[in-house]
Amino acid sequence: MFDFATQDHTDPAERYAALRKAAAAIVAGEPDAIANMANLAALIWQFVPDLNWAGFYRVIDGELVLGPFVGKPACIRIPFGHGVCGTAAASGETQLVPDVHAFPGHIACDAASRSELVVPVKTTDGRVIAVLDLDSPLPGRFTVEDAIGIEALAAAISAAVSD
Ligand code: SME
Repeated sequence: MFDFATQDHTDPAERYAALRKAAAAIVAGEPDAIANMANLAALIWQFVPDLNWAGFYRVIDGELVLGPFVGKPACIRIPFGHGVCGTAAASGETQLVPDVHAFPGHIACDAASRSELVVPVKTTDGRVIAVLDLDSPLPGRFTVEDAIGIEALAAAISAAVSD
């Protein structure tokens, strides 16, 4: 059993440091990328408040394919350059979207989503292998601190989620 204390972190940096520590512990010694993504999605859900979706899209044959997540069922395939996730994958840049309705081409998987944070997961040589997608029902939910925290997580878990 894994039982990670989340506590009430008011400081996002502390929350993400605790999340990274739990993430490192949960993937330690496990080579299966899908199992690791499943546990990491669950951990993000547990540690980051006010989410309605958290999970992975994997890069497979040049498009994004739905991976392990927590939340409502979602679109399965997203071409590079489409939506928030496809934009993050194509550009290799984090997408912090305070209002999804104002993002051209946003793909609405859950109508409750109002803001979104998508961070590319890259190999050490910079290849995008997946994206981490967090959605919130609150407008403007994600800050630069959230982006920095999830980017640090993505860097820390990249090897554990590559095939
Ligand atoms: N909103 C995303 C699609 C994925 S879901 O939010 C889970 C996008 O525009 O890429």
